[in-house]
Amino acid sequence: MKRVAIYPGSFDPLTNGHLDLIKRSLKLFDELIVGVLENPSKKALFTAAERVAMAGQVVKPLKRVRVESFDGLLVACTRRLGNPTVIRGLRMISDFEYEFQMAQMNRKMQPGYEVVFMMPDERYSYLSSSLVRQIATLGGDVGPLVPPVVARHIRAKVKK
Ligand code: PNS
Repeated sequence: MKRVAIYPGSFDPLTNGHLDLIKRSLKLFDELIVGVLENPSKKALFTAAERVAMAGQVVKPLKRVRVESFDGLLVACTRRLGNPTVIRGLRMISDFEYEFQMAQMNRKMQPGYEVVFMMPDERYSYLSSSLVRQIATLGGDVGPLVPPVVARHIRAKVKK
């Protein structure tokens, strides 16, 4: 039986930390779906279509990964996909409380829901999409923080 996982998030934008987690997940699962949330409540820098396209470009060399967008509840998405295991990253202990609450609630709504928490490399423990957005819009260099293709999209976006 194929072991399938989904890594959901806003990916606004996808960072080196996300990519590290994607690669780590492939050691545990046969297939990984990167699930891009279409309408995050936070003010997004990129549209859903842009975030999906960027993620697609980043994971293109990784054969067992595909990108899908979803809207609404994550559990509705996992149900539709046949209950893949959900991957979430824990960078530090402060991430845990929110993740724990979300996982418990999702499990309440969807009994088959399983989540695996993974730690990115310590180099990425301070990295977040929101900091990348802030640095980019204030004119800083995000080159070391995101995959090269994402950096190009960010430069084009902030130039506008
Ligand atoms: O990595 P992010 O951007 O913080 O991802 C958060 C995400 C997309 C996993 C979370 O916001 C989510 O699952 N949103 C979908 C709506 C939903 O299911 N809400 C109920 C959570 S208990």
